[in-house]
Amino acid sequence: MHVSKRINKIGVSPTMKVAAEAKLMQSRGESVIDFSVGEPDFPTPQNVKEAAKRAIDNNQTHYTLNNGTIELRAAISQKLKKENGLDYLSNDIIVSTGAKQSLYNAVQSLVHDDDEVIFSSPYYVSYPEMVTLAHGHSVIIPTTEETEFNLTPGQLEKAITSKTKVLILSYPTNPTGSCYTKEELEAFAEIVETNNLYVICDDIYENIIYDDNKFVCFAALNENIKNRTVVVNGFSKSYAMTGWRIGYAAGPEEIIKAMNKIQSHSTSNASSISQAAALEALNGPQDFIEMMRKEYEQRRDFIFEQIISIKGITCFKPKGAFYLFPNLKYYFGKSTSVFRIEHSFDLAMYLLHQVKVATVPGSAFGAEGYLRLSYATSMENLKEGVERIKEGLAQLH
Ligand SMILES: Cc1ncc(COP(=O)(O)O)c(C=O)c1O
Repeated sequence: MHVSKRINKIGVSPTMKVAAEAKLMQSRGESVIDFSVGEPDFPTPQNVKEAAKRAIDNNQTHYTLNNGTIELRAAISQKLKKENGLDYLSNDIIVSTGAKQSLYNAVQSLVHDDDEVIFSSPYYVSYPEMVTLAHGHSVIIPTTEETEFNLTPGQLEKAITSKTKVLILSYPTNPTGSCYTKEELEAFAEIVETNNLYVICDDIYENIIYDDNKFVCFAALNENIKNRTVVVNGFSKSYAMTGWRIGYAAGPEEIIKAMNKIQSHSTSNASSISQAAALEALNGPQDFIEMMRKEYEQRRDFIFEQIISIKGITCFKPKGAFYLFPNLKYYFGKSTSVFRIEHSFDLAMYLLHQVKVATVPGSAFGAEGYLRLSYATSMENLKEGVERIKEGLAQLH
């Protein structure tokens, strides 16, 4: 086959292999408990669904402006002002097909050949591949539980070279649930300004945050930082709208214009119907978000207590998002008569086949030794899944 060299540089995520196997088992009627999902298990709020139906009936079924409808961009501008303290004109906002498209287009707009892009691991699976597709180099800084999976200012400073162009920040983090305080972000801001870096901040989990942790958008730190930051956000996690594919970016005019150009030659506008739904999500009642957040918090408390009670496991208590990222290195080198565990991938496959629990190996996020367990599933599934994991791990010697 003559697939381009560029595409051959991109890996297929190990996530897909475990997920494909889990789907196959489910199709055979096996009862798999799925802790591998990356999306809310709540249905999209009814008012949002109704707005989409109305949009269809009102024939809002044609192309919109490439960067999104005027109404939706105005509503996003108000949201950014009210919730994040950020002033953006509607023209400094672009609506995209999911936050992922905005991330991709932001990277394409900022990264030239051989530019270096810094982000920490464990990372969201798509960041390295987006950088590779832009012919850039990922400079990945490993983090561990010792620093609560947070990058330190010292680590950041050390990683910067004359080729560094962009820093990607994402918090609360997928897959660890780590988060930064305002003070920690301010320390990064100083380094960003001194070294003339651009920042892409992926705020997709901003509303899923626990205890007394507070979300602060990086761009809101000061005007200079705002002028070198692209804020990316979306509706997938906050409004349980993953399938509607609506996200957005706000940032400096020149970068948003560049992203608009790329979008105009690739996908054009995001779905007109989904945009109408997203407008209702922002303008309608917001209590859904708090209901969902509280439910996730209860689940986090439950699964965290259960998982850390298992022999050999250590785990950071997530401050946000809906994932637990336990350290399972204790089980490496252990075996049953059929399985031997050397890596997180083996462990994920073992748990899938032995006790029918689907998880994602830490290696998918650039962090060997861990598994990602999503608690975006019912309490009933969590209870059953945890029991199965305990049973599976107890059989390893
Ligand atoms: C950190 C992070 N960023 C971006 C996305 C993509 O979101 P969207 O569905 O809006 O494309 C995800 C989805 O899992 C995510 O975890």
